[in-house]
Amino acid sequence: MTKPVLLTGDTPTGQLHLGHWVGSLENRVAMQNSHECHFLLANTHAFTTRLNKHDGIADSVRDITLDYLAAGIDPEKATIFVESDIPAIFELTSLFSMLIPYGRLMRNPTIKDEIRDKQLGDGYSFGFLLYPVLQVADILCVKGEVVPVGEDQLPHLEMTREVARKFNQLFCGVDSHAPDDEAVAQGGIFPIPKALLGRTKRLVGTGGPSDNGALLKMSKSLNNAILISDDADTVKKKVMRMYTDPSRLKASDPGTVENNPLWIFHDTFNSDKAWVEEAKASYRAGTIGDVTCKKELVRVINELLEPMRERRAAFEVQPNLVRDVLVHGADKVKATANETLAQVADAMGLSRHLK
Ligand code: TRP
Repeated sequence: MTKPVLLTGDTPTGQLHLGHWVGSLENRVAMQNSHECHFLLANTHAFTTRLNKHDGIADSVRDITLDYLAAGIDPEKATIFVESDIPAIFELTSLFSMLIPYGRLMRNPTIKDEIRDKQLGDGYSFGFLLYPVLQVADILCVKGEVVPVGEDQLPHLEMTREVARKFNQLFCGVDSHAPDDEAVAQGGIFPIPKALLGRTKRLVGTGGPSDNGALLKMSKSLNNAILISDDADTVKKKVMRMYTDPSRLKASDPGTVENNPLWIFHDTFNSDKAWVEEAKASYRAGTIGDVTCKKELVRVINELLEPMRERRAAFEVQPNLVRDVLVHGADKVKATANETLAQVADAMGLSRHLK
């Protein structure tokens, strides 16, 4: 039995945090045995927002690779690689771009949100619009079938599915009514990939809400993140300072549990559900202090991160490890992606004039 092909990745613009862990990373660690896993560092994507801070991209590639290894991704089982090490991805990007109507790209809600949230105005690059197409090539170059991602990535995945279907129909003779799971059986080059969402789609940060009152997503750039590389003391400091119910001045004030990061974190990370329910009731009644609940959260988060710290410490003393893992990953994916590209070029009739 061959294992289903899984691919996902991160844009190297920082280090990984607890939001990445519950959004996708824990799924990836769990699926290493059952799937043929590929984890990509999309370093060319990073230029879409880091053109003026591009020095940090290469550092982030190394940081995140180490985060992966610390989190428990085993490079003997899973392939970790860097996008720019695979030339076939860029060739596939140009070819696939021919299959995507321009208006379709501009209607992508994630692209629209990013233009608004990152205040890109009309100054964004052509490459910014190209990045979802790069993502299509990232996934299809290994013929990915399962793609663990966050909710914001679903539009890109939908576009990947459309490209895979269209390619199979136009160039491989697959019937336009063929069910997705029969694409390959009907002669298509590409399986139609499926998204896999994490158990928490959007983890809030440790800081307060934005001006409109909504809690902000955990993000290193918003300074509200607990990194998976944080040491025990840093976790303690961040949790003890975290935003909770602002109207609660002393432990005897009744507190609100809803929309309170303290309880969102307990719900997400504390496996002792009985304690959490009891403590929530006491919090509402004003019979338990924030400090007690925060201390418990520090314990729970440090329990999750401690094995990662131990693995990281063991990896950090091997100076060539990250490079070796990435060279090995690139070699493997290069072979697969070149094979995919050859099939694509052949199906499109690109070298028929030479025959
Ligand atoms: N765009 C994704 C993000 O920023 C990262 C990414 C790049 C990706 N290529 C991918 C995710 C392919 C899944 C599949 O989170």
